Amino acid sequence: MNMAFCAFRKSFKLFKWWVFLRPFSVMLIVVVMVGVLLLVQTKMKDFRHKNGIFVQFDVQEKVGMENLEPMKVQNGSTEAEILSTSVSPYHDWELFAANYEEMMKKLKIFVYPDAFMSNNSSIFSSIFLPHTDPFDPKLGNYFSEHMFKIALLGSSFVTKKPEEAHFYFMPFSINVMRNHPRVHSASAIKDFVAGYTDRVRSEFEFWNASGGADHFYVYCHSIGRDAASKHHELHHNSIQVTCSSSYFQRLYIAHKDIGLPQVWPRQHEEVLNPPDARYKLVFFAGRVQNSLARRDLLEQWKNDSSFDIFSGSSSFPYREGFRRSRYCLHIKGYEVNTARVSDAIQHGCVPVLISNYYDLPLANILDWSKFSVIVNERDIRHLKKILLSVPVRTYLNMYKNLGIVRRHFAWYSSPKTYDSFHMTVYQLWYRRGLHPVTW
Ligand SMILES: *[C@@H]1O[C@H](CO)[C@@H](O)[C@H](O)[C@H]1NC(C)=O
Ligand SMILES: *[C@@H]1O[C@H](CO)[C@@H](O)[C@H](O)[C@H]1NC(C)=O
Ligand SMILES: *[C@@H]1O[C@H](CO)[C@@H](O)[C@H](O)[C@H]1NC(C)=O
Ligand SMILES: *[C@@H]1O[C@H](CO)[C@@H](O)[C@H](O)[C@H]1NC(C)=O
Ligand SMILES: *[C@@H]1O[C@H](CO)[C@@H](O)[C@H](O)[C@H]1NC(C)=O
Repeated sequence: MNMAFCAFRKSFKLFKWWVFLRPFSVMLIVVVMVGVLLLVQTKMKDFRHKNGIFVQFDVQEKVGMENLEPMKVQNGSTEAEILSTSVSPYHDWELFAANYEEMMKKLKIFVYPDAFMSNNSSIFSSIFLPHTDPFDPKLGNYFSEHMFKIALLGSSFVTKKPEEAHFYFMPFSINVMRNHPRVHSASAIKDFVAGYTDRVRSEFEFWNASGGADHFYVYCHSIGRDAASKHHELHHNSIQVTCSSSYFQRLYIAHKDIGLPQVWPRQHEEVLNPPDARYKLVFFAGRVQNSLARRDLLEQWKNDSSFDIFSGSSSFPYREGFRRSRYCLHIKGYEVNTARVSDAIQHGCVPVLISNYYDLPLANILDWSKFSVIVNERDIRHLKKILLSVPVRTYLNMYKNLGIVRRHFAWYSSPKTYDSFHMTVYQLWYRRGLHPVTW
């Protein structure tokens, strides 16, 4: 009884203290929460900077226009310092390399025989045969489309035994059709592709076995996107490997289709200009009529002396723009893609991607945020602040990563390890064994 009374008194005392503290305790909790929030925010910022992602989130706090001039890489950012903060451009290099090795051992692709017919056997043979001169400057933008076929036919993936193949390649070229006297219009291309698919379906048993889900075709000409639209199974099941990989487009299905690196032909590797020899902040040259975003860019930045922005061609050699600038813009034109991304990568100029809905090639292997800056089209007016807010250390790391990833943005007639051909084929390998949609 006594003890119970004591306990009661004790708790009553505590209760009195609690009554007394209660108003303060709310304040205390608020203070602690604000402290924790601030701490988390600072840590997150460090994290973002260290990892080079979402640079645009720091725009607000950065200084105004008066601080913009010095753009040389400051001294003190030594090679050793870069190495110590090195961030890989890969999501998971080891996992990728192991899968790649397995692919090299196992992957088999069957090519429909049209790719091997003699060049005089039909007026359509040029549509299926490998191009005899892919380095022809007129093909520049469509180089990747032709190089894929040439590299594939010269690779060890091709099998003569279709029943052992993981994939079936339909070797028509949209780019050749586009210039073919008998096929060139958009609607004739659709009919031709639908007709060819029906022929494959009736002459070989492999299409019906998968509903076309293990069949693929490759193109860099954006008109190819509509090519499948007259064939239900081709559109819904087959894999289109395309330079115009925009997930805004109804006819591109991101998890099924594959983005193809668009590469301008070059005969030899560029020697990289070091960061401190780059005295311009930004370079861009291209037709501004092609998009609103480009007109917006010109309007906003044509007067700024740290920007080299040209409507049409530059007043100096194109290559020089990539050599003397720290950042090179890839800004959407008619389509999300241009060869400027790989131009920038090959010249060690950090690409700035201003192209909403671009399903970036190789994004499941490469972490683009570690070697490029991605800017929303509506933030063009903040471009300078965004770029100047990238810490020098992050910039140097991105520059270094360009030297690592550039081998993925090059094509060779005899394919080399980890080149554009192998990286693209790896995207197929990744999709092996998928089942067709049934409807
Ligand atoms: C940076 O420092 C090195 C010596 O540490 C010096 O040789 C070089 O000229 C400096 N560069 C600039 C741009 O100040
Ligand atoms: C067809 O191939 C032959 C031999 O391969 C070549 O000499 C000829 O130029 C080719 N013709 C065309 C129109 O490509
Ligand atoms: C086509 O070319 C092959 C050799 O490349 C030749 O044997 C054949 O006679 C040619 N056919 C025609 C119709 O010209
Ligand atoms: C595949 O299926 C279609 C439609 O059912 C049919 O017309 C075609 O003959 C089939 N192909 C083969 C090789 O049996
Ligand atoms: C650029 O300069 C022109 C004339 O020198 C001027 O009319 C225009 O408003 C300027 N544009 C910007 C965005 O400052």
